[in-house]
Amino acid sequence: MLSARGARWAKVDYAHGVQNRYDAVKNPQGAVRFEGAENWLMHSELAEFIDGVSFDQSCCAYGEGYTGSSRLRKAMAHHLNTHFAPAQAIDAEEITFAAGVTNLNEACALVTCNPDAGEAIMLGRPVYGAFSLDLCMRTGVELEYVSVGDRDQFTPDCVAAFEAGYDAAIARGRNIRALIICNPHNPLGRCYPRETLIGLLQLCARKGIHLISDEIYALSTYGRNDREPEVFTSIRSIDFVGIIDPKQVHVLYGMSKDFGAAGTRLGCVVSQNREFTDAVRAICRFASPSQFSMHITASLLEDQDYIRSFLDKSRARLLQNRLAAESLLSEAGIAFHDAGNAGLFMWIDLSPFLPVAETNGDSWAAQRLIAERLEQAGVILQSGESYRAPEPGWCRLVFSLEEESLREGIRRLSRVISGVSAQ
Ligand SMILES: Cc1ncc(COP(=O)(O)O)c(C=O)c1O
Repeated sequence: MLSARGARWAKVDYAHGVQNRYDAVKNPQGAVRFEGAENWLMHSELAEFIDGVSFDQSCCAYGEGYTGSSRLRKAMAHHLNTHFAPAQAIDAEEITFAAGVTNLNEACALVTCNPDAGEAIMLGRPVYGAFSLDLCMRTGVELEYVSVGDRDQFTPDCVAAFEAGYDAAIARGRNIRALIICNPHNPLGRCYPRETLIGLLQLCARKGIHLISDEIYALSTYGRNDREPEVFTSIRSIDFVGIIDPKQVHVLYGMSKDFGAAGTRLGCVVSQNREFTDAVRAICRFASPSQFSMHITASLLEDQDYIRSFLDKSRARLLQNRLAAESLLSEAGIAFHDAGNAGLFMWIDLSPFLPVAETNGDSWAAQRLIAERLEQAGVILQSGESYRAPEPGWCRLVFSLEEESLREGIRRLSRVISGVSAQ
């Protein structure tokens, strides 16, 4: 009954967002969801801010700006110029909005790659799992995952690894058109050092490809006292003169993470390439943001004093939760990647607990089995397989939940891995 692609999409196992979420008082039997990268810690502040925003009836119309009102683009330019330290000030005209970075990831794939010519986008691994849906599902674009050092993919050594991956793909007849990085990194929570970013820009210049930098976690960094904190460096803070044509570099940013405002469904792409921007705007008419959302968000971004105090609070809470998660995991005997200070998640190691005896030694199958058991016990974790992790056993744990949920989730996790069934 359906087209070939319709039939293919019908098989995509796409969840219905967050359902049956654990709440210590209202839903103690609910599932602790460690899988969706959402900053639950700042929702009450955000809701309070929104309560104070008054609407005028212009929001009821289609309005000006299907891909970002002028007011919103101006407010975002100001925000980025304040926090990203761009080498060259970002102009509002470089910014295009859509209903979430998810849409803009797809737009980037659509406007940089020809699907029928074996064109592909290169990424390191592990990396944000939904790139495989966002970039490919409707575009026909291929992905080329390159092993660039697994958990330590941030040193300038990754440039040689990417170059080798690029050359190998070309030798197989696959034409790489873009490199996507995620900085700060999802799922590893690390920031790319400036030196590495320069090396990657040089690589993209040499190969004549685009560099797309997803910086959606830019301001979700939390300094720690026990080690030198990593600092977020936007790709736009590097002066491209003598390195790369600015037309090849594009930045993704959005409201979902730093502002705990995923519900606004607002993301943007920043590019100095007019043709790229025009093409993205043309297709983003299918993903126009709501005028209400843009009105609220412009009001928020215009209030930089509020944002500074909001971010201070958010960072303090992220640090507190990260430290709480570390100590709960350690008590449960679960190791984690002990590095990084950005993002809403940690990369944890369940490899010693994989029930390989039950899966004929197949560790990936064992990891799927443990995920099922966790789900039955009311705890949902995103397994490393969906992040194209090179080794089985790793999972991403989102720690930006209310502390009681974090405790309950790790309690349940600990029961499952120690083989005691959940009550
Ligand atoms: C790296 C990265 N990019 C994009 C997104 C999606 O952003 P949005 O909510 O704006 O669609 C996410 C959400 O988890 C993400 O982690």
